[in-house]
Amino acid sequence: MERNRIKFEFLVHDLKVPLAVIEAGILSLLQKQDKYGELNDKQIKILERALRNTIVTRTLVNDALELGRSSQGIMNKSTFTPAQLVEQTLIEVLDLTDHSTADAIKECKALADLKTCLAEHGLFLEIDETFWARDLYLDESKVKQIFRNLLINALKYKKNRVLLKIARGEGCLFITVGDDGEGIPSGYHKKIFECYFQMDMKTDHCVRGHGLGLAGVQVLLEDMGGELFLESDTGKGATFSVKIPW
Ligand SMILES: Nc1ncnc2c1ncn2[C@@H]1O[C@H](COP(=O)(O)OP(=O)(O)OP(=O)(O)O)[C@@H](O)[C@H]1O
Ligand SMILES: [Mg+2]
Repeated sequence: MERNRIKFEFLVHDLKVPLAVIEAGILSLLQKQDKYGELNDKQIKILERALRNTIVTRTLVNDALELGRSSQGIMNKSTFTPAQLVEQTLIEVLDLTDHSTADAIKECKALADLKTCLAEHGLFLEIDETFWARDLYLDESKVKQIFRNLLINALKYKKNRVLLKIARGEGCLFITVGDDGEGIPSGYHKKIFECYFQMDMKTDHCVRGHGLGLAGVQVLLEDMGGELFLESDTGKGATFSVKIPW
């Protein structure tokens, strides 16, 4: 690896320790009020917001390291289920924007409950009951990072609805994330995967992002031997489907 790249990755890596200390500190204040003093509602709100943002930063640091690892061709396969993938990613993403839905998801015991709960919030989950708890053997953090980025985009650009579909193909996993937003004209279907490229959107999205998410998704997918399909046009929403071999 090039020297400057190593220095950069090392710096990102070293952010993990102070971040963990900050996170643990905030958690202690929130969870051990008998030891550190009682908090009022305003203080709790501020600490919870600080905690959520620490978690965002931790996720970003891990993502950056994962991209570096991926470009070295390193795979880290483990066993996980579609249920874990979907629930954990949804909670992680919604915890930042929609606390109450994230909490409601945590309460869901069965797949049917989860589907109902999500549908009430405009999220429609399609997955076969028999596939839900099946073991997958893939690089979990890469798959999660892909799913998370597509989900964040869909939530950012949707009008009312987001469709999530997880399915099993011949020797592969399919993840589909669709929304009913402005859509992407066909002339931009390649460009949106370039680093820092963002379309000029009329709608003002409070979090603008950096135009890096899809470029990262593409890199991770290539490293796993996967493929991405995009179906979208102006005014027709966008549906991103990824196919990951196992
Ligand atoms: N679901 C979608 N609907 C409409 N446009 C989209 C959608 N997903 C991505 N795009 C367009 O593709 C661009 C690139 O997406 P990408 O995820 O790489 O970056 P970003 O979301 O703008 O920022 P980042 O992911 O770095 O936070 C977006 O800025 C947007 O213009
Ligand atoms: Mg994005």
